[in-house]
Amino acid sequence: MKIISFFNHKGGVSKTTTTYNLGWALSRLGKKVLLVDLDPQCNLTGLVLAHQAIDDDFMNSFYQNRNNLTFDAIVNKIIDGAIGSELAKDGSIYPIDQENLFLLAGSLKLSELDSQVTAALKITSGLPILGKIITGFFDTLENIAKYQDMDYLLLDLSPSIGGLNQLALMGSDYFIVPTSPDYFCLQAIHSLSKKIKEWHLEINAFKQTTKINIKNNPLFLGTIQQRFRLRNSAPTKAFEKWIEQIRNAVNQTLVPQLQTINCTIGASDFSKVITENLPYDLAQIPDFNTLIAISQRSQKPVFLLEEKDLKEAKQFGSAEATSKEKIEDFKSLFERLGCAIIDLTQSNDKK
Ligand SMILES: Nc1ncnc2c1ncn2[C@@H]1O[C@H](COP(=O)(O)OP(=O)(O)OP(=O)(O)O)[C@@H](O)[C@H]1O
Ligand SMILES: [Mg+2]
Repeated sequence: MKIISFFNHKGGVSKTTTTYNLGWALSRLGKKVLLVDLDPQCNLTGLVLAHQAIDDDFMNSFYQNRNNLTFDAIVNKIIDGAIGSELAKDGSIYPIDQENLFLLAGSLKLSELDSQVTAALKITSGLPILGKIITGFFDTLENIAKYQDMDYLLLDLSPSIGGLNQLALMGSDYFIVPTSPDYFCLQAIHSLSKKIKEWHLEINAFKQTTKINIKNNPLFLGTIQQRFRLRNSAPTKAFEKWIEQIRNAVNQTLVPQLQTINCTIGASDFSKVITENLPYDLAQIPDFNTLIAISQRSQKPVFLLEEKDLKEAKQFGSAEATSKEKIEDFKSLFERLGCAIIDLTQSNDKK
């Protein structure tokens, strides 16, 4: 079982959308996947539940049903210092309308957990309950993965630099940084380089003082560039400039920093699997344009939209034909990305 986090503290760079799309792609390749919504905004949960998420009756019974595993129940357990083993064993996770794909729904209570974890990571001496909050988080996730026989846990993180993200990211096996082609994202790559190193050192100090053993070396797999416009099948000039600058910042600043703390896969391992892009560009995903709206309404990713979904969205004639072509392009893009993630996480197998 592999845990992959999607993280960039820059907001709105497509962390949630990519977690969702990649989850579908991996499950279609035969992997059993749990999408884990770790953001108190609960966008991933909203994306999966769609219209049901705005139905109060549905949401009340969804969260109050004791058999239903969500972060509402899990956060309470972790804060009480308990590992949610019975929860993990007996509870059911929400099955998405796709074989092998499940959701661990988010909750507003995750912000409470965030404050507790932030405090717990700063403890310097024996406060066992705080230590249990730290170990309880991954123990619970790992128990769920074990009892439900998952191949991948994909963690959708919030755009913050709080303790919960620190713990989730540093305790993952791998991480991916979604990016958008703009100045703010370039800025974020520079601050991320410093932040991840700081997080690693803080967790090392925590491990030393508490003698609690937690993971602290997630491997960076690469970036996924999003949302640029195409002209003649290539990003337009303005976007190309940012894509290039972000690629340089990743290779010249982020990766060297991560290497000092053993937190990246090697560039040659990357290039063995992905031959069409330079390290560490996992994929370049153009703007979905209108397809994103149709996808959210149809509760499936853009690359699985069908003729009936387009017709329901009143797309006919040439608009429909163009959309169909794009859907096929996105389908092969996500299939390639899914295969690459499987290969990269196998060739860099740590367990
Ligand atoms: N490739 C794409 N083309 C067009 N729109 C996209 C694409 N990827 C994401 N979006 C849209 O961009 C917005 C932000 O995406 P998303 O919520 O996935 O980002 P995020 O990084 O998870 O945001 P946050 O930091 O708030 O968690 C959403 O409205 C989403 O539908
Ligand atoms: Mg998000």
